[in-house]
Amino acid sequence: MTAPLRTIVLLGLGALLAIPACKEPTGPEREISGARLYAQNCARCHGLDGKGGAEAPPGTRDLSDPGYMSMLTDERIRNTIRMGKPPTMPAFGRQFAEPSLKVLAAYVRQLSATKPASAPAPAAAGE
Ligand code: HEC
Repeated sequence: MTAPLRTIVLLGLGALLAIPACKEPTGPEREISGARLYAQNCARCHGLDGKGGAEAPPGTRDLSDPGYMSMLTDERIRNTIRMGKPPTMPAFGRQFAEPSLKVLAAYVRQLSATKPASAPAPAAAGE
């Protein structure tokens, strides 16, 4: 192998190794953050506080509304995330592994937990 060729091969290998690993943490070894999953996937439509985000299509649900949210079972919330609400809310299908789905649904649930009227807004995505 000529020297220039070897350099090219080495550079190519380096580029391959440099591709950042970008995987959703699913194992018990890494904590799943409901706040982070929500901020990354849901807040653009539902808003960090559940009351609606910048890209909310007409009819977007207020996830902080205790009256509405108390009618939804946890099962229904998980199914909504999996299947979406055609045509306006996208289906997240296989994107969340079961543990992430549970944590995310629990996070959504607490957005409508009733708080004293004077309580400050919940802190934005935790990190
Ligand atoms: C592109 C905008 C968009 C995104 C992104 C989005 N939603 Fe929605 N969501 C909507 C709209 C619109 C509705 C109301 C749909 C309807 O009632 O037909 C809705 C409804 C809901 C409901 C109420 C479901 C019900 O049964 O009435 C829940 C819960 C919900 N979304 C959770 C989430 C979660 C969790 C995420 C992130 C994983 C998310 N949404 C991402 C637009 C969005």
